[in-house]
Amino acid sequence: MVEFALPKNSRVTRGRHYPAVEGATRTKTFKVYRYDPEGTENPRWDTYEVDLDKCGPMVLDVLFYIKNNMDPSLAFRRSCREGVCGSCAMNIGGRNTLACTHGWEEVPGKDVQISPLPHMPVVKDLVPDMTLFYAQYASIEPWLHTETPEPQKEWVQSPEDREKLDGLYECILCACCSTSCPSYWWNQEKYLGPAALLHAYRWLVDSRDEATGDRLDYLEDPFKLYRCHTIMNCAQVCPKGLNPAKAIQEVKKMLVDRVV
Ligand code: SF4
Ligand code: SF4
Ligand code: FES
Repeated sequence: MVEFALPKNSRVTRGRHYPAVEGATRTKTFKVYRYDPEGTENPRWDTYEVDLDKCGPMVLDVLFYIKNNMDPSLAFRRSCREGVCGSCAMNIGGRNTLACTHGWEEVPGKDVQISPLPHMPVVKDLVPDMTLFYAQYASIEPWLHTETPEPQKEWVQSPEDREKLDGLYECILCACCSTSCPSYWWNQEKYLGPAALLHAYRWLVDSRDEATGDRLDYLEDPFKLYRCHTIMNCAQVCPKGLNPAKAIQEVKKMLVDRVV
């Protein structure tokens, strides 16, 4: 049973309001989704009047400000603060993105609404459960498969072949794409989703890999791959500027080409 951020038929309980600290002159309202597995007021939207003169320009700065100065119970994930680890992915102003690289000034509208990545089970507040997402990534076996004996020094790759991995290897597994994909929302138990499929393609085009046939066999399935209907949400939200939809099309082409 998957518990989503806003479960069907659930009643959102009245949220709490945290006024600005005394003396604040420049404030902005942030509306934050709250869910506590051990609490009774679930889910709810809490509002925080944040003193803009006391916090940095990114949404992650705001979350730190709230946690350190207004409400220590707020839970969120982060690590690098540089758009590299992917752990701070969340929905900000209706768009999946990274809190550490997204400025609160970029969010349209008066108030800023922040919630966990959509259609994922919630562990607490802004922390989604990534178990299925990582299992799907692992299922495409994201490592080099070879049959020829290992060379003494290294697996050699020409600069041209190495270039084929550009636009693929940069993925930080933030899940912004998969959780913005309507096909993934409705079929996530069966459809691998754009992130895992982008990685599947990354290994299919790696000139050193010798398991192309097995990899294609695994993907040739009405649900794992073919649930992508080229809606393109994935490419629009990727904070690294990648295009999973294009990678998925390339995999489909490879499957067609091997039949012809
Ligand atoms: S292009 Fe495919 S993977 Fe990307 S959002 Fe659309 S259906 Fe999902
Ligand atoms: S393709 Fe982009 S949005 Fe998707 S997981 Fe990778 S970095 Fe995140
Ligand atoms: S904290 Fe690492 S990507 Fe945002």
